[in-house]
Amino acid sequence: MESVTQDYKFEGELLDIVTYPDSVLTTVATDVTEFNDELKTLCKNMLYTMYHAPGIGLAAPQIGLSKRIFVIDVDFSREEDEESDNVTYDDFNPRVFINPKFVEKNGETKYQEGCLSLPGIFEDVKRYESIVLEYQDTDGNTHTLDADGLLSICIQHENDHLDGIVFIDRLSNLKKSFFKKKLIKAKRK
Ligand code: NI
Repeated sequence: MESVTQDYKFEGELLDIVTYPDSVLTTVATDVTEFNDELKTLCKNMLYTMYHAPGIGLAAPQIGLSKRIFVIDVDFSREEDEESDNVTYDDFNPRVFINPKFVEKNGETKYQEGCLSLPGIFEDVKRYESIVLEYQDTDGNTHTLDADGLLSICIQHENDHLDGIVFIDRLSNLKKSFFKKKLIKAKRK
């Protein structure tokens, strides 16, 4: 039985996460135009998959869907009990972003990033310190969000996925080709 369901009563379908260099990860995603139940179910399943991974963000291209959607939770905590194999989750703050657009980008920061689609790689990436983002919710309503810190970094990382950019694209050419080769090699095994 899935511990996620057990502990949080969070229902969903576990989606397959696509790994680099799958072409969907280097494709520019298209806008969402229909705000229906199917979209709501998709977002719920994306959140479920993200919590399960576990990860703090997941973009639609990472589950093989080239649409401008990502989900984030930078607040949840996860505790693993090695003896009982039980996982407890707390402090959920799920966020869904559809058709996001940056209104402002300010300052500079650096953070060690990782990605569910690039397993085993963690590198410092330069990002904007704070952002203002306009986005839609699953009903198609538009919102504006001011974000800084980890939320801002995570939004920039996930938004890159919608533009066909993965975080190693933000590193030097030398590092990028090193990690690219490493990932291709790991995938062949
Ligand atoms: Ni990622």
